[in-house]
Amino acid sequence: MKTEILKLLQNSKESVSGQEICNRFSVSRTAVWKVINQLKEEGYVIDAVQNKGYRILSTPDILTEAEIKSRLNTEWAGSTLSCLEETDSTNTDCKKFAEQGAKHGLLCTADTQISGRGRRGRAWESPKGTSVSMTLLLRPEIKPNQAPQLTLVMALAVARAISRISGETCSIKWPNDILMKDKKICGILTEMSAEMDYVHYVVIGCGINVNQDMIPEELEKIATSIKIETGKSYQRSELIAEILSNFEQLYQQFLIHADLSLFIEEYNRYLVNQGRRVRVLDPKAEFEGEALGISPNGELLVRTETGETVEVYAGEVSVRGIYGYV
Ligand code: BTN
Repeated sequence: MKTEILKLLQNSKESVSGQEICNRFSVSRTAVWKVINQLKEEGYVIDAVQNKGYRILSTPDILTEAEIKSRLNTEWAGSTLSCLEETDSTNTDCKKFAEQGAKHGLLCTADTQISGRGRRGRAWESPKGTSVSMTLLLRPEIKPNQAPQLTLVMALAVARAISRISGETCSIKWPNDILMKDKKICGILTEMSAEMDYVHYVVIGCGINVNQDMIPEELEKIATSIKIETGKSYQRSELIAEILSNFEQLYQQFLIHADLSLFIEEYNRYLVNQGRRVRVLDPKAEFEGEALGISPNGELLVRTETGETVEVYAGEVSVRGIYGYV
């Protein structure tokens, strides 16, 4: 009921009377009053005027279940939520829930992570109160070798959402880093439980630098936050909802052919590597070439010095710009 009341108040510019809330949700005046007080305690500034009702004047940047749910307009993405203030890693939480039978669409979030994990065993910092740490559970009917493409689907969903909410274009460093002005603002870690030919589940975790004012010195050259680049703060719950809404739409398209063919052009428009020289860090043999774009399966197409086009598979190698991070 708290979510519903919050959603109603958030969506109305005018005050909503206590009686209207009571009638709409068939609850008592006391119950409404209790919810309003809870919201006030959480930091919502609510104007309560006699004979007029309640109106939200400002919303705190918190990641509670009610706050996130009240922003969602999806069918299944985020249909169940686990929202913690602090956790080890939302990917680890999501995997635990998946093992216990949680449904496709579960979203785990945390205001901060103690042992956030990045790709290739690296650590991921999720500062309290300013970053987004979220993991979505999927139970897709696809082959295990198609699962890495879902990371690219999420990358596109995040790039779209950040561009829309911040008004500043961002780009994708293949396969799945999101950049603003050539510095990283988001990383994605996808993990899977599968048999040779059957996917049990996939979890896709996103870490986003949203409202940080500063980046640790050792990362300053390669990482940034949306706030540092645009000078504005953002409501993290709104960003999460926008990402899920985009992801849900893109995922439906992905399932049609179980590949990226329906949005390959859009992905390539965001692709920072496109047309740039890249060094492919293939453990077998490193090479350089020009990145041309992605294939329908999400491989990066790289034209080598000899004119040959090589398909670089995300799971096996990483790509560096020869002049630095991109
Ligand atoms: C990377 O760029 O190396 C990937 C970083 C992924 C970080 C996110 S934060 C939410 C989720 N939980 C984790 O422990 N990792 C991912």
